[in-house]
Amino acid sequence: MKYVIGIDLGTSAVKILLVNQKGEVSDEISKEYPLIIEKSGYSEQDPEEWVAKTEEGLAELIGNFSGNVKDIEGISFSGQMHGLVLLDNNQKVLRNAILWNDTRTTPQCQEIYDKVGRDRLLQITKNPALEGFTLPKILWVQKYEPEVFAKAASFLLPKDYLRYRMTGRLQMEYSDAAGTLMLNVAERQWSKEILEQFQLSPEICPELVESHEFVGNVTSKFAQKTGLSQEVKVFAGGADNACGAIGSGILSEGKTLCSIGTSGVVLSYEERNDLDFAGTVHYFNHAEEDAFYTMGVTLAAGYSLSWYKDTFAKEESFEQLLTGIEEVPAGSNGLVFTPYIVGERTPHADSTIRGSFIGIDASHERKHFSRSVLEGITFSLNESIEVFRNSGKTIDTIISIGGGAKNETWLQMQADIFNSSIEKLASEQGPGMGAAMLAAYGCGWYSSLKECAEEFLSSSKTYEPIPENVEAYKKVFSIYQEVYRQTKEMNERLREFRK
Ligand code: XUL
Repeated sequence: MKYVIGIDLGTSAVKILLVNQKGEVSDEISKEYPLIIEKSGYSEQDPEEWVAKTEEGLAELIGNFSGNVKDIEGISFSGQMHGLVLLDNNQKVLRNAILWNDTRTTPQCQEIYDKVGRDRLLQITKNPALEGFTLPKILWVQKYEPEVFAKAASFLLPKDYLRYRMTGRLQMEYSDAAGTLMLNVAERQWSKEILEQFQLSPEICPELVESHEFVGNVTSKFAQKTGLSQEVKVFAGGADNACGAIGSGILSEGKTLCSIGTSGVVLSYEERNDLDFAGTVHYFNHAEEDAFYTMGVTLAAGYSLSWYKDTFAKEESFEQLLTGIEEVPAGSNGLVFTPYIVGERTPHADSTIRGSFIGIDASHERKHFSRSVLEGITFSLNESIEVFRNSGKTIDTIISIGGGAKNETWLQMQADIFNSSIEKLASEQGPGMGAAMLAAYGCGWYSSLKECAEEFLSSSKTYEPIPENVEAYKKVFSIYQEVYRQTKEMNERLREFRK
C-alpha cells in the first residue's frame, strides 16, 4: 500500500495525516503551539515553533508506521493564510510572524486605499485592503521596524516557510499568494504596479508555483530528523481554505462549504475570474489549477467558542460545556451573541467592533449562553451566505466541516439558520485531507483532483431545515444584524480602554 502525508499548519496546531491510496486516514498526529498576543489586536507566532512541532509530529508518525517508509510517496501542505514571515538574505527569520488574525494595520489599509485607490485595488487583487492580509503587515514593519525591514530580502507565508525548511527552496503557490494583496489574481502574477506604489522590490516576492507542483525532495537533515525517506516528493500545497474546499470536494460550480475552525468561512467554487462582488467577499485563486473561489470570513468562529470555554469553563470539555443546548429553543430564549471578539471581516470589515451578549435575562442558564454563542457564530456566517444569495447564487446544499460538524445540534442549527440542506462528510479531515489529496494528485495517483475526490470522499448524513426553526431564526437574525449597527459607535468609544 502507498501513502501520502497532508500537513495542515493551523493557527493553534499542526495536524499531520497519513492517508493511504484508498483515502483512508491511517494515522493522525496533532501538536499545538501558542499564539503570542503582546497587546489587544496583536497576534504573532514564532516560525521556529511550526518547524519544531512539525518535525516532532512527523517523527512520531514515522515511529508509529509499521510499513516501508519508501511507500510514503508524497507530502503536501495546507496553511493558515496571510501570515507574514520576513527573511534576510541568508533566509533567517527576522521577527515573529504576524498572523492573519492580527488587526494592528488599520492605518496601513488606509494607506493602500490612498495610494492605489479602492477600485484599482479591487481590479488587480479582487479583494479589499483588510488588516489580516499580508501587504498591510509588510507596510507596518516598513514603518515601525525600519531596521528589521532594511534587512528583509524575501517574504513567505506560514506553510511556505515550513516547506522551505523541509526542502531548502523558496516558493509560494497561487492560492496563498492571492491573500497577500500583491498578486494580480486573474492574471496569476505579482503586481508590479502595487509593488512600485510601496517601493517594494520584486525580489522580495518568491517564485510562484502550482499547488500540486513537485517542488523538491526533503533535505537529508530533515529526513534524518523525522525518519522520512529522502525520496519522498514534496508538493507545494494550498491555503487552508482552498485545501478545506478540496478536502470537502468543492471542485465544481455550485458547491458551497461552511468550515468552522479558529475563523469560520463560507466558500463557493468559481470557474470564472471576472465576477464582481465589489470586495464584499474574498475572491481568491483555488488550489485547483485555473479555478477560483469566493469566501466570506467570520474572524472568531471556533475562537469565540474556545474563548467562551477558556473564560468560563476552562476545566471542562466542549461536550460538557454544550450539554443541554439541544433543550434550548431556537433563539436561546431571547439571548443574542455577536462573535466580534477580535473584530470582524464579512460583511463588516471592522477591526474596532467587539462582541456582545444582548438580552441577558435572570432566567437564563449556562446552556442558554452556550447555545447563543453557537447561534451568533452561525448568524455571522449566514451574513456571508446572504451576500452570495443576493448576488444571484443558489445555495441549497452546504457541506459543513470543522468544529461546526462535530455537534449534531450545531449541524441542525446550520440547516435552520442557513435555510439549506447541510451535508456531513463520512470521514471529515478538513484542510489536512485537501493537502493529502494535492500530494496524491501530484504523485500521479489520479488524473485530476475531482477524480481523487470521487475516490476519497463521501457524505454520511444530511440535515434538512425545520420550517418552524427557520421562521424563528429569520426573526432573530434580523435582530442580530441590528446589533452591529447599534454597538458600532459604542465600541469606537470603548476602544481607548482596551489594553
Ligand atoms: C482567510 C483567513 C483565515 C485563515 C485561517 O482569509 O484569514 O481563514 O486562513 O487560517
